[in-house]
Amino acid sequence: MMHKVWFLPAVLFLFSLWATGVAFGAKTGGSRSEKAILLVAFGTTVADAQKPFETIEARTRAAFPGVEIRWAFTSSTVRAKMAEQGKPVDSPEMALARLMNDGYPRVAVLSLHVVPGQEFHDLRHNASLFAEMSGGIETVAVARPLLSSTEDMRRVAKAVLARIPETRKAEDGVLFMGHGNKNHPSDAIYGAMNGLLQDLSSNVHMGTVEGYPSIDDLLPKLKGVKKVYLMPFMAVAGRHAQNDMAGDGPESWKSILTKNGFNCEVVLTGLTEYPEVVEVWLDHLKEAVAKLQ
Ligand code: CO
Repeated sequence: MMHKVWFLPAVLFLFSLWATGVAFGAKTGGSRSEKAILLVAFGTTVADAQKPFETIEARTRAAFPGVEIRWAFTSSTVRAKMAEQGKPVDSPEMALARLMNDGYPRVAVLSLHVVPGQEFHDLRHNASLFAEMSGGIETVAVARPLLSSTEDMRRVAKAVLARIPETRKAEDGVLFMGHGNKNHPSDAIYGAMNGLLQDLSSNVHMGTVEGYPSIDDLLPKLKGVKKVYLMPFMAVAGRHAQNDMAGDGPESWKSILTKNGFNCEVVLTGLTEYPEVVEVWLDHLKEAVAKLQ
């Protein structure tokens, strides 16, 4: 079987470019000693998909007792819909401004993004600016996103493989759906995960909605397979999972695979629902909080 072995060095090179979790600022002075944690997600308007956020908040609270914990969503579309529903959520910038206004000198930010994509870089850049303002937050530490090292990729690959339904037989295919972005270098991480999953198991593939590999890239890999399990590889089983993966529209993976003669079984569970995956995010948050000392 052909493994895309060149992806791993490529991804490691990319990691070296954006470096590991960075702390900004370290001004002196300040009146309060309290630390705060800002949890950041893309967000989702699907009510059921929000439940894992409550679990993550509870686990964060347990790991950092007494520390102020707040949320922000990066998607303006999701925020607008939440506001319409009477449940407004701040943008990361608004949340950081409030923390600054409330006098928190040390803030750790955990983004529930899967890869260091454009959104993560935007967040890191904007968060760093709060540590540059005079009278601003003294130190802002941004935790690494989920897949930031080979070790992270291995831990997450093992965790998601363990979540494949027990009914799956060895000859059945499994397709994970990541987000992807064909215009950002972080897209290579999905290709690396695809290679890693195949090293660990057979007939398991990682595809993406908007990057590489696409469903068209994966179809030829399913020769001899009759049944395919579809599983999201996104923080939550939100709109992409429900529509682009499992929807009845002609463009969904389920429809495309069904049209090509495959029997599909859909699993609608997001990465934030897997405790072993959340553990990786929390380990990154711990690194960030340690930088606040
Ligand atoms: Co999208």
